[in-house]
Amino acid sequence: MHARQICQGIDIIATVHWERRLFDSLIPLPDGTSYNAYLVRGTKATALLDSTDPALRDDLMEPLHDVEKIDYIISQHSEQDHSGCIPDLLERYPQATLVCSKKAKDLLITHLQISAERIRVVEDGESISLGDKTLQFIYTPWVHWPETMCTYVPEDKCLFSCDFFGSHLATTDLFATDRDRVYEAAKRYYAETMMPFRKIIQKNLEKIADCTFDIIAPSHGPVYNDPDFILNAYRDWVSPNMKNEVVLPYVSMHGSTERMVKHLIDTLAREGVTVHAFDLTVTDIGKLAISLVDAATLIVGTPTVQVGPHPAVYNAAYLANLLRPKLKYAAIIVSYGWGSKAIEQITGLIPNLNVDVLGTLLHKGAPTSDTFAELDTLATAVAKAHRDDELVTI
Ligand code: FEO
Repeated sequence: MHARQICQGIDIIATVHWERRLFDSLIPLPDGTSYNAYLVRGTKATALLDSTDPALRDDLMEPLHDVEKIDYIISQHSEQDHSGCIPDLLERYPQATLVCSKKAKDLLITHLQISAERIRVVEDGESISLGDKTLQFIYTPWVHWPETMCTYVPEDKCLFSCDFFGSHLATTDLFATDRDRVYEAAKRYYAETMMPFRKIIQKNLEKIADCTFDIIAPSHGPVYNDPDFILNAYRDWVSPNMKNEVVLPYVSMHGSTERMVKHLIDTLAREGVTVHAFDLTVTDIGKLAISLVDAATLIVGTPTVQVGPHPAVYNAAYLANLLRPKLKYAAIIVSYGWGSKAIEQITGLIPNLNVDVLGTLLHKGAPTSDTFAELDTLATAVAKAHRDDELVTI
């Protein structure tokens, strides 16, 4: 795609990965993704912020064919979807200096075999003048690697944020005009990539609050020309506020777990609790991650395979533990044929979740009226806990 202007002197080169369906061999991409590089032209010097994924090298290099001189290549984040073509850029622009944070230098050298002589490290708060535009570097660690930084251009009130505020979205839209679609994609991005660093992100949001923004330009997805849209969303997602919601990932092999899960969903719904249930054999794991952003309670349902949980449940519990959602409560429902250690094994998988366990239910064979009564007791306990915490659904 051609370079397009987002404001006077600043162009976006959006390389769009329409067909990509998995990121980092881990994260589903139902809507593809994009990698944005930005060309900032001052009266005295020109800078290019970030590059693109090596798979789209030509899509970055082609729009640069008539750009004869780049003085600075800014690497805000060393992950290869943004840094992977920096070696090509350094070859194309032999006079350019590669600018990065202190921690990024080692990563760029070790991951991309870049010569240390080409690199200039900037400190937190340091600036580089391009003439009538200034690049101010703001260290924003752990969004989502330790070396990540943002770049602020005060003359245009523009923040380049790389992954921070990004959305995995393949689109021709320059700006985030399709609010519902961008909100969903940005929340998915936050859930899968940023949520483990929620408390550090709170600090980073406070740190950038000193700046005023007309534009936030991330390196995935469209640009925000109404920055409050994404800033308010992030403030909500990282806040301690939880919703009157249960996330219920489960697997059923012969129907017993499913009957228990469906009974529990029905009872919770009658108690006024919103339930997001996911059959893990068919679910989009990204949807599960999104639902974990706001929910107060996680309930895991599993049959027993050998003596442990179904592998898909094991994987989901492990993932939830990695993502470190807010979650205050949890429960585990297990069915088995002749023996099970699934409750102990699932409990051992979620040490990062600081939750009160409101109930565990271990049932042999098909559920009975006693089983359903126990599930009703669990649903009542969840609903009461949510009411006592004054949680709301919206
Ligand atoms: Fe978009 Fe962490 O790379």
